Amino acid sequence: MTIREIALVPEPVLRRKARKLTDFGPETQKLIDDMVETMREAPGVGLAAPQIAESLQLVVVEFAEDEENEDAKPKLFVVVNPEIVKRSEETVMGIEGCLSIPGLVGDVERNESVEIKALNRHGKPIKIKARGWLARIFQHEIDHLDGVLYTDRATRVWQPKEEEEFEDV
Ligand code: NI
Repeated sequence: MTIREIALVPEPVLRRKARKLTDFGPETQKLIDDMVETMREAPGVGLAAPQIAESLQLVVVEFAEDEENEDAKPKLFVVVNPEIVKRSEETVMGIEGCLSIPGLVGDVERNESVEIKALNRHGKPIKIKARGWLARIFQHEIDHLDGVLYTDRATRVWQPKEEEEFEDV
């Protein structure tokens, strides 16, 4: 596995619409493993392929599904060609950062829960129901596949003080 360099704004690849992934062979498997390793090393809770300069509809997320349970183990999601098929009417504000936009965070309004249709790393259809932070992470990452950054949606963006800590996606 290889830790890949993270593309930073204003790299054009971050603004491109990623193409669908159709090949699930060894090269794709290696790319997915590299993304997982790069996300963990960063560290981040999510990474989209355009963030390592691969314009493909591929996202990795590692986060505990049940955030209310402190002992919940983070779960790894590998999501290919994702589509948000359902969104809650309820929205929530939260503070987001992004590995591709170092040194900034912003207030972003997101749907509280989403349902996602996608393929897994072997090309099999999957459905994910996510709420809370997990739903936020998926919305942030799926935006990356459309060339959208959280700063496009943020109502306020600022430089956090050093003692403040945020999880980057
Ligand atoms: Ni991001």
